[in-house]
Amino acid sequence: ESIGDYAADVILRGVAERPSTGHMNTGHMNYVLGVATGSSPLPIYEALERRWVPELAAISAFALDEYVGLPYSHPESYHSVIDREVTTRLRLDPSKVHVPDGFADDPVAACLAYETAIQDAGGIDLQILGIGGSGHIGFNEPTSSFSSRTRIKTLTPETRRDNARFFSSPDEVPLHCMTQGLGTILDARKVLLVATGEKKAAAVARAVEGPLTSMCPGSALQLHPDATVLLDEAAAAEL
Ligand code: GLP
Repeated sequence: ESIGDYAADVILRGVAERPSTGHMNTGHMNYVLGVATGSSPLPIYEALERRWVPELAAISAFALDEYVGLPYSHPESYHSVIDREVTTRLRLDPSKVHVPDGFADDPVAACLAYETAIQDAGGIDLQILGIGGSGHIGFNEPTSSFSSRTRIKTLTPETRRDNARFFSSPDEVPLHCMTQGLGTILDARKVLLVATGEKKAAAVARAVEGPLTSMCPGSALQLHPDATVLLDEAAAAEL
């Protein structure tokens, strides 16, 4: 709950400041929040729901990633998850909430269009992140280039195993995903990574204190000028 409240403070401050600052090049635009799926960011959405202010209804949101080939209506598609956990709770305007189109006829064009949509919105003000056991952020699995943009990736067996709990059988977990790249994530003005529990301790230590390496995609955040990592004691145990 304290992680959720801390993050909500930062986000609500940013939303409140937006009308007076605006974007340097594009005039006064809405606050743009980068949202993530997974259990780690849920306390943030709960805190924002508790502390809801009308200004939140005007923000835009961009999700990090999506499975490829899962219908939008599947309960575990990130379209559905973001709709349930973010759009509904924060009473956002659904037309301003974007999720990569993993069901597009032309996925490569959809990836390019996603990058353009982020730029057209003025860029992401704050990107919320979780971290996977493999050190992935978004679905940027190990070997992801630090300059990668939104693209299709193959999920590692480890990630498919981790996410099998959301599907009726492990075979149902898609093989591919569409994810903002590490370069896309590094372009966000602020980054807030949340990790809790002992299962995250090794990945957190590698990301925060290990060498910069595409084998731990989270280590790319060491290059970001304004990145905050929010941990409980268990996730911080190996620092
Ligand atoms: C998925 C998502 C990631 C998320 C990770 C960890 O792989 N694509 O964005 O960080 O799961 O999820 P959790 O927070 O539930 O541990």
